[in-house]
Amino acid sequence: MKKKLTRFDLQKMKDDGQKAVWMTAYDYITAQLAEEAGMDMLLVGDSLGMAVYGYSGTVPVTMEQCIYHTEAVRRAAADTFVIGDMPFGSYQTSVSDACKNAIRFHKEAGVDCVKLEGGTRVAPVIRAISDGGMLVMGHVGLTPQSSGAMGGFRAQGRTADSAKAIIEDAKAVYESGAFAVLAEGIPPEVTKLICDALPIPVYGIGAGDCDGQVMICSDILGLFQAFTPKFVKRYGNIADEYRKVFAAYIDEVRSGVFPGEEHVYRMIDGEAAKLEAD
Ligand code: KIV
Repeated sequence: MKKKLTRFDLQKMKDDGQKAVWMTAYDYITAQLAEEAGMDMLLVGDSLGMAVYGYSGTVPVTMEQCIYHTEAVRRAAADTFVIGDMPFGSYQTSVSDACKNAIRFHKEAGVDCVKLEGGTRVAPVIRAISDGGMLVMGHVGLTPQSSGAMGGFRAQGRTADSAKAIIEDAKAVYESGAFAVLAEGIPPEVTKLICDALPIPVYGIGAGDCDGQVMICSDILGLFQAFTPKFVKRYGNIADEYRKVFAAYIDEVRSGVFPGEEHVYRMIDGEAAKLEAD
C-alpha cells in the first residue's frame, strides 16, 4: 500500500537526489488515477480557473472554488501529499486573512500544505502561516496571479537583475519558514543557483532540472486546447480521444445502434405478458 509522504520524506528525497513528481488535479477521478500511478504529490492549483472554469487567468479564482475542488481530490487520494493553492485575494489583504484562509484549507479540505505566490513581499505571510503550525510552499519566478504586473505570462529571470531578485525571493521564502519552493518559468541557470543556495527542496515548472517537477494535468494529457507553454510536454492526446468517443456516441444514438440489447433491463419472465393482458 502507498504511504503518504511527509515533509521529511520529501527532504530526504532531495538529499538523496531522488526526484519528486507531481501534477495538478482538480477532480476525484483524476486524483484517484494519479494516486494509483504513484504520483508523489498533487496540487489543486488555482490553474483550475483556466483548466476547469475557462477563465483567461487565475485571478478570478475564489477560496470557495479551491476548497471545493481540493475536497474532491483529498477524498480520492487519501495517501497522497495534497497541496492547496491559495488563490489571489486570499493572502494579500492581511496576514490575519492569510492565516484564516490557510486554516480553512486544512480544516475543510484536509490539505498537507498550502502554496502561495511571491517572495520577499509575502515573507511575513509565510512566517505567520508556518508559525501557526502549517506547512507552506513558496512559488517564485513567473507567478501567474501577478501576470498583469508582469505584462503577461512571461518567463522571468532572463536578465541578471531579474535573476538576482528571484534568488532573493527564494531565499526570503526559505528564511520565512517554507519547507519547499516552486520555481516557475525561469532559466535553468537561475534554478541551479537557487538549488545551490537553499537546503529545502526546489521544484520546478518551466525551470529546468531541480529536485522535482510539477505539470498541469490537462497539459500532459493533451486536453487543454487554448495554448501550450514552451515548457509543457504532452504525454498523450486525450482531446482527440474525447473527440472520437463523442462522435461515435452521437453516430450510434442517431443511427439506432445504441442502446443495444445488452444495455437494457428486460422485465422479469412472465411479467410482460401480464401487462399485455391488462
Ligand atoms: O496553479 C497551478 O497549477 C500552479 C502551477 C504553476 C504549478 O501553481
